[in-house]
Amino acid sequence: MIVLGIETSCDETSAAVVESDATGAHATLRSMVIVSQDVHRLFGGVVPEIASRAHLTSLVPAVRQALADAHLTPGGIDAIAVTCGPGLVGALLVGVSWAKAYAATLDKPVLGVHHMEGHLFAPSLEDPTAEPPFTALLVSGGHTLLLDVPAWGDYRQLGATRDDAAGEAFDKVAKLLGLPYPGGPFIEKLAATVAHPGDVPKAFRFTRPITHGGQRPGDADYYDVSFSGLKTAVLNAVRGSTDIERDRALIARGFQDALIGTLAEKVGRAVEACGRTRVVLGGGVACNRALVNAIQARVGRGVTVHAPSARLATDNAGMIARAGAWRLARGERSGAGLGAFASHPLPGVAAG
Ligand code: KG4
Ligand code: ZN
Repeated sequence: MIVLGIETSCDETSAAVVESDATGAHATLRSMVIVSQDVHRLFGGVVPEIASRAHLTSLVPAVRQALADAHLTPGGIDAIAVTCGPGLVGALLVGVSWAKAYAATLDKPVLGVHHMEGHLFAPSLEDPTAEPPFTALLVSGGHTLLLDVPAWGDYRQLGATRDDAAGEAFDKVAKLLGLPYPGGPFIEKLAATVAHPGDVPKAFRFTRPITHGGQRPGDADYYDVSFSGLKTAVLNAVRGSTDIERDRALIARGFQDALIGTLAEKVGRAVEACGRTRVVLGGGVACNRALVNAIQARVGRGVTVHAPSARLATDNAGMIARAGAWRLARGERSGAGLGAFASHPLPGVAAG
C-alpha cells in the first residue's frame, strides 16, 4: 500500500510517500519534502496566520516534489493520511481541506491522523525493531507524554507535563538567555561548551522538578513532569547574574541538566514498572543528544533507546503517512466529514 502523508499542524509544510506491507506493520519511506517556515524566527515564535498562509503556498509544490521523488503519478497512491490535530487550527485546515479535495478527485480514501501518534511511529521508519512493546517519551514544542505501548494503537498514558511542554521550556529559557527561536538546538549547543556538570556553579545547579525519592508508583507525581518552576529559577538566575556573557552557557547547562535529569528519571521508572526492553523517543526535543544519552544511562545497557534522526524527530509527513498506513490497513477511513482539531485525544489512549 502506498500512502501519501500531509503534515501542516504548525510551522513545517511536509509531504511524504510511505510504502507499507498489507498489515501496515512494516513500512519504508520512499520520499519526503519538508518546507520549514523560517519567517517565524523574526517574531520569536510561530505566528498562526503566517503559518497558514505559508502552508497554502508550499503544500502543492511539496506534494508534487514528493511524488516525483518517489517516481509516482498521483494515480499511483492508494490513500492519503493527513494530520487532523492537535495543532494550530488554521494551519491544520489547509492540510485537511487540501487532502480531502485531492482524495475526492483521485477517488482514494483519506484518513485523519493524530500528530502525536505520528511522532510515536517515526522511529520505526528508520529502524523496524522500534516496534511495541515499548516505553515512549514524546517531547515536542506543545506536548510531553510518557506512555506504555504494549501494541500499536494501545496506549497507556503514565505521565504528562502539568504546565509547560519540554520544548516550550527550552524555547522560553532560550528567550530569557537572549538566544534565537526555536531555542532547543541553541541551548544544546551552548550547554555542550560546559565540559562537566561539576563546572556549573551551585547557584545554577537547578533542582530536577518533581523527582524526589519519596515518590512511589501510584503517586500522582510519580510519572508527571513540570517545568514552570524550573523556568522561574532560570529567570531568577538571569536577573541575579552580574555578568550574563560569562554565565549564559553555565545557566544553559544547569537548565538542560535539570530538565533532562527529570525526563530520564521518569522514563527509567516507566521502563522498570512496565518491564520493557525498548524505549522510543519522539518529538523535536528527541534531537537533543544529551537527553538521549541521559536516558540510555538511566535505563542501562539491557534496554535499547530508539531515537529518530533529526529529520524524523521534528515535524514531518513521513511519520503521518506511517501511522496512517497502519490505521488504513485496519480498514479505518475518515470520509468527507473529517475536521481539524486544536486539541484531540490520542486514539486508543487510556490511563496507565
Ligand atoms: O516536534 P516538534 O518539531 O514540533 C512540535 O510538534 O512542537 O518540536 C519542536 C520543539 C521546539 O520547542 C524546539 O526547541 C525543540 O523541539 N527542539 C529541541 C532540539 N531541537 C528541537 N529541544 C532541545 N534540544 C534540541 N536539540
Ligand atoms: Zn510535533
